[in-house]
Order: sequence, then C-alpha cells, then structure tokens
Amino acid sequence: MSRTHVDHNDIAKFAQDKVNLPKAKADEYRAQARRLREKLENYLGEHPDFSLKKMMISGSLAKGTGLRSLNDIDVACYVSGADAPSDIPRLLEYIAERLRKAFPNFTPDQVTPQTYSISVSFKGTGLDVDIVPILYYGDKNWYGNLVSQVDGSFLKTSIPLHLDFIRKRKQKNYQHFSQVVRLVKFWVRKEKRERDGFRFKSFMVEMILSKLSDQGVDFSDYPEALQSFFTYIATTDMRELIVFDDCYAPNTVGTITTPVKIIDPVNAENNVANLYTNTQADMIVEAALDAGDAIDSALSATTKQDTLYYWQKVFGSTFQV
Ligand SMILES: Nc1ncnc2c1ncn2[C@@H]1O[C@H](COP(=O)(O)OP(=O)(O)OP(=O)(O)O)[C@@H](O)[C@H]1O
Ligand SMILES: [Mg+2]
Repeated sequence: MSRTHVDHNDIAKFAQDKVNLPKAKADEYRAQARRLREKLENYLGEHPDFSLKKMMISGSLAKGTGLRSLNDIDVACYVSGADAPSDIPRLLEYIAERLRKAFPNFTPDQVTPQTYSISVSFKGTGLDVDIVPILYYGDKNWYGNLVSQVDGSFLKTSIPLHLDFIRKRKQKNYQHFSQVVRLVKFWVRKEKRERDGFRFKSFMVEMILSKLSDQGVDFSDYPEALQSFFTYIATTDMRELIVFDDCYAPNTVGTITTPVKIIDPVNAENNVANLYTNTQADMIVEAALDAGDAIDSALSATTKQDTLYYWQKVFGSTFQV
C-alpha cells in the first residue's frame, strides 16, 4: 500500500480543518440549548401541570457527531400525550403556543411551526433551535412517540437510550468512532450534491458503524475504517438485517419485508430504514462501490496528483493536503 502522499494523519487533519464542527462552536450551541431547557424547567417549577415536560438536546450535537455545516440545534421536547392533539399541524400549534408562554421574552414570530417540528429562532448570531415533539406518557426511560422528521409518523423510541448506545461505541473506539461517523457523513453530503435522489440518514450511518465496531473493526486508521464501511455496504448490498442486543433479544424482531432493515437499538419494532426503496438502497450501494474503488486507487497511486484525485472522489474538492 502506498501512503506516501495521503496517510491516516492527513485524513485526520482534513477532518479537523474541514469536516468537524469546532469544539468551541459545539459548546456554544449546547449552551444555547441548555438555556432554553433551563427556562422551561423554571417555568415548570412554577406551573407543575404544564404540558411540556422536558427538553433534551438530541441529534448530532448530543452525540458529538456534528459537522461544520451544522445548520440547526436539535432539541426533543416531551409533551404529555394525554391532552395533546395527535393531528400534526394542531400538535405543532399547541406546542408553539405553550413555548411562547414559557419563553415570554421571545416575540411570537420567533416560535414558528415548521412541517414536523417547531423552530425557535434567535436574533443575531446563534443557530435556530429545531424542536421535535415527543408524545410522552411518563415512561421512566423516556420512551415516547417521536414525530418522524421525514413523514410525521410517530416512532416509539428513547433519545437518552440512543445516547447511551452511541456512548458505548464511542468509548470502545475513543475519538475514532465519532471521527469516522463525521467523515462518512461528509461523504454522504457530497453524494447528495452529486446524485439526484441520494439519501442516507445519519442515524443509519451510525448504526452501520456501530455494527462494525461491535464486530471488532478497528477505527484508529481512517483509510481502513472507511474502507470497512464501504466494503460492508457493497458486500451486503445494503440488505442485511442490522440489529443489536443492547436493549432486547434480536430474535424478537419480526419479519421485515422492506429492502433496508436497520432496527432501532432501543425498539425492536422500529425499522429506522423503513422508508428506503430498492432504488435508494441501490444508489447507496453504487456510491459505496465507487468510494471503495477510489480509496483502493488512492492507496496504490504513485503520484501525489493521482492520490489527491482519488481522495477527492470520496470527499470532494475541499480535500487537499
Ligand atoms: N427513525 C428513527 N427512529 C428512532 N429515532 C430516530 C429516528 N430518526 C432519528 N431518530 C433520533 O433522532 C436523532 C437525530 O437523527 P439523525 O441521527 O438522523 O440526525 P443527526 O445525528 O442530528 O445528524 P445530522 O448531522 O444529519 O443532522 C437520532 O440520534 C435518534 O435519536
Ligand atoms: Mg441534526
């Protein structure tokens, strides 16, 4: 293998410079979410029967897998389900009204329902906070019905248990697990720009990498870890059942007939890839084959120009050494 021109350390440096959300930014955004959460907690202290029960930072900022291109702060909001409307537009309006009550220093138009979430916009710098509703019935592990951001359906799941799940994989491959997640997400962004109709949800990427981590794949060499990811997709044709035993026995997962089968690690009945079609699965496989070939070529290229050319096929023209 020729690594003269681009080696693990070059990929690591590229990640630092171009891919990762800088830590100072991540801290600032987490603090922004924390202030909102604390405001709600104060309001709840004075109004214990209030129907918004908790706010919790979720998504990539909570998992430490955010890209530099992060464009909103995901916050889950637990709403007591008994009285809340289940019709999505009415539910969003119901929550928006209550958020305006709990945050009186926001003008009403700073709290606006979107398609499946509510956005809280901050004047000045800061990113907007995207509030995703979870209908909640008092479960101690914070299971609830999360509103899918893809089609507005209700998905039974638990955000804190997801965070525990990811934390375990991060501990096993300290720093490298999150870094490989971010590198793959960066590749996904490039594919979305270049292939019409390409989709590959971040959570699915994380589940595939979690499976590889559980199988003992070493993440500390980035070219190799990336190659393991692309090879996994190519060899399984993106059709292998992915299931974990952290929270339930894998054999409790029923028969699944959709092409892509990636089961929520905290709910055996929730296939997180249920909306992916054969065409979309094939597109992922094709893109992974191309990326895998490009990495092979990069690793055997003899000139710097050729090596760069192949790595740019994976990460786009922002990849420079
Ligand atoms: N289909 C689903 N079933 C259960 N939980 C889900 C599902 N989709 C998303 N989630 C929850 O929402 C969180 C955020 O979703 P996702 O991982 O796709 O975005 P992200 O980590 O914020 O990445 P991005 O950088 O793409 O915004 C997940 O970590 C998971 O807890
Ligand atoms: Mg997100």
